[in-house]
Amino acid sequence: MSYVDIHCHILPAVDDGARDLEESVDYARRLVDEGVRELIATPHVGNPRFPFEPEEIEDRLAALSSELEQREIPLRIHSGGELHPSEPNSLTDAQLELIANGPPGARWLLFEIPFAGVDQRFADDCRQLMARGYGLVIAHPERARGLFSDGGWQLLRGLVAEGALLQINVCSLLGNNGLEAQEAAVGLLRSGYAFTLASDAHPGTRDHTAALGFALTLKAGASSLQAWRLTQANPRFLLRSGIPAGFNEQRSASLGQPLPVF
Ligand SMILES: [Fe+2]
Repeated sequence: MSYVDIHCHILPAVDDGARDLEESVDYARRLVDEGVRELIATPHVGNPRFPFEPEEIEDRLAALSSELEQREIPLRIHSGGELHPSEPNSLTDAQLELIANGPPGARWLLFEIPFAGVDQRFADDCRQLMARGYGLVIAHPERARGLFSDGGWQLLRGLVAEGALLQINVCSLLGNNGLEAQEAAVGLLRSGYAFTLASDAHPGTRDHTAALGFALTLKAGASSLQAWRLTQANPRFLLRSGIPAGFNEQRSASLGQPLPVF
C-alpha cells in the first residue's frame, strides 16, 4: 500500500493547519508509518482569514522537507495550495502557477467549494479558471450546504461534464462534518462521481489520514478496486499526469450512474 494525499495543511504556521514545525513533523512521521508516501501541501490561498501569499510556499516547503530529511522521514511533499472561492481570479497567472500541479499542458488547481452552497458565481469562477488553462479538482463538494437539495448539484454536475474532478474528504466519511456532508460524500463515492479522496488534514486538530480513508471507503460501500483508485491510483495519476486534455470528456461520458438521492 502506498497512499497519495493531494490535500493537506501540513505546512506549519501559515493557516489553521499545523501550528508549528513539531506538529508537521509528528504528522509526517505518522503518515510514513501508515503507508502515505507522497502528499501535496495545500495551505489556504486567497482566504481572507489567512493573509498568506503563494510566493511564500516554496521556501517554507523547502524548510519542512529539509527537516524531514534530517530526521530520516521519507515523505515526499509537493507544493500546492487550496484556492479559496472568494476571489480566485484575482490571482495572477504567476500566482496560480505556484499552487498548480501536474506536468505542462495538464496543470490543475485544487479549488475549494463554497461552504454556503454551490451557486452561479462559483460555476462562473470555475469556468474562468478553466479558460485560463487549468483543470480543476474541486475540494470537498460534499461540504457545500444543500448540495443535493438546493440546485447546487445541477451546477456542479455541469462542471464535471466540462472537466472538473471531485475530491471528497476523509473527515466527511467519518461524519465529522455532519450527517448531510457524510451522506453526500457516500453518494458521490457510490455513484462514481468522486475521483479521489484526500485527508484535508489539519495536523494537531483534524489529523486523520489518507490511510484511514481507504478503510472508510470500503465501509461506505466501495469495492477494493474503487478504494485503491480513490486513495492511491487516482491521486498518483493527478501528480504524475495531471489532467490531460480530453481526459475529462472520456471520464464524464462513463458516468452513467444515477444521481445520489436524499
Ligand atoms: Fe483544506
